[in-house]
Amino acid sequence: MASAARSASRAFLRSSSIRPAVRSSRFALPSQGFRAASRRGYASEANSGKSSNTFLWAGIAVAGGAGAYFYLQGSDAGVGSKNFVPTKEDYQKVYNAIAERLANETDYDDGSYGPVLVRLAWHASGTYDKETGTGGSNGATMRFAPESDHGANAGLKHARDFLEPIKAQFPWITYSDLWTLAGSAAIQELGGPTIPWRPGRQDRDVSACTPDGRLPDASKDHRHIRDIFGRMGFNDQEMVALCGAHALGRAHTDRSGFDGPWDFSPTVFTNEFFKLLVDEKWQQRKWNGPTQFTDKTTKTLMMLPTDIALVKDKEFKKHVDRYAKDSDVFFKEFADVYVKLLELGVPFTSKAEDRYVFKTSE
Ligand code: HEM
Repeated sequence: MASAARSASRAFLRSSSIRPAVRSSRFALPSQGFRAASRRGYASEANSGKSSNTFLWAGIAVAGGAGAYFYLQGSDAGVGSKNFVPTKEDYQKVYNAIAERLANETDYDDGSYGPVLVRLAWHASGTYDKETGTGGSNGATMRFAPESDHGANAGLKHARDFLEPIKAQFPWITYSDLWTLAGSAAIQELGGPTIPWRPGRQDRDVSACTPDGRLPDASKDHRHIRDIFGRMGFNDQEMVALCGAHALGRAHTDRSGFDGPWDFSPTVFTNEFFKLLVDEKWQQRKWNGPTQFTDKTTKTLMMLPTDIALVKDKEFKKHVDRYAKDSDVFFKEFADVYVKLLELGVPFTSKAEDRYVFKTSE
């Protein structure tokens, strides 16, 4: 099924100099009505970190832990009713809506919002501090300044706004569940491994915003990577696997200051990031911007100083080599650690075995 198509698409992407767009979808075009509603939901430019649809919450109180959502109007247990308890099927509907929107909204970057959704889920979760139990994906506090204005989060408004129409369509889901579900959906829709996911996150207010400086700084070295990811509770192997997400997307000069994609297929999840790290010669780019590296062969790709640190450090390099050699091993270990990342700091009442596996769109 999909995997054959994805392999073919990856093979094509590798052998092609054409910049790839997201793969086509089985979804039909949405109705005009849905499109108009989407545009209305999407238009809130003056967000500046505050929820642009706070009004949705006026009549909604979210019950703790178990994922029961109580509405003020309605009387039965259906959607929009008083005691609506979403099931796996309801979350699959949210997944499908995200996948459909990903397939339709191709006029962005390299043709997909997928990479920036993966980044939103990671930055929402990667603020976790295992010592204090603060931060993590529970809260979606990046809706608010100051967290939305932290330098590391520049550009993530694109991802948050992309998800607003989905939130409007499924008002019962918390932002924190929605953002992480979108991260899982984006990995799967871009040809990556299955990312099992479970609900249970609650949104918190501005007082739960984390201090600046909890996310990694790309200009730093291996010690910084270990400090930052160690604080979240990850080991060397997990740190390297997570950084493989840089197979997706690109850096933007107006966001981080860095510039360019890591590989030739930035909308397809692959182990290319590791292969290129090992196989290419990387030299410092001569330009009027922050120190970054460029491939000797085409001078069109880039690596951040922290990416290069993964091959400079012997312990990290062992894992880079393993992932460069074996895509299946990378997919499996990435899936395990991305699931762990998206669950940091969440007081689940459900068990790990109860995670949902969502169907991909084709
Ligand atoms: C040492 C660790 C890391 C550093 C220093 C780092 C830094 C960066 C920087 C500077 C960018 C460019 C942002 C822009 O200009 O738009 C970026 C993009 C990205 N990062 Fe990371 N990152 C790290 C780890 C991760 C992890 C763990 C993930 C996910 C599991 C991830 C996923 C992504 C994705 C998907 C993009 C592309 C976003 C887009 O295309 O808009 N990164 N990262």
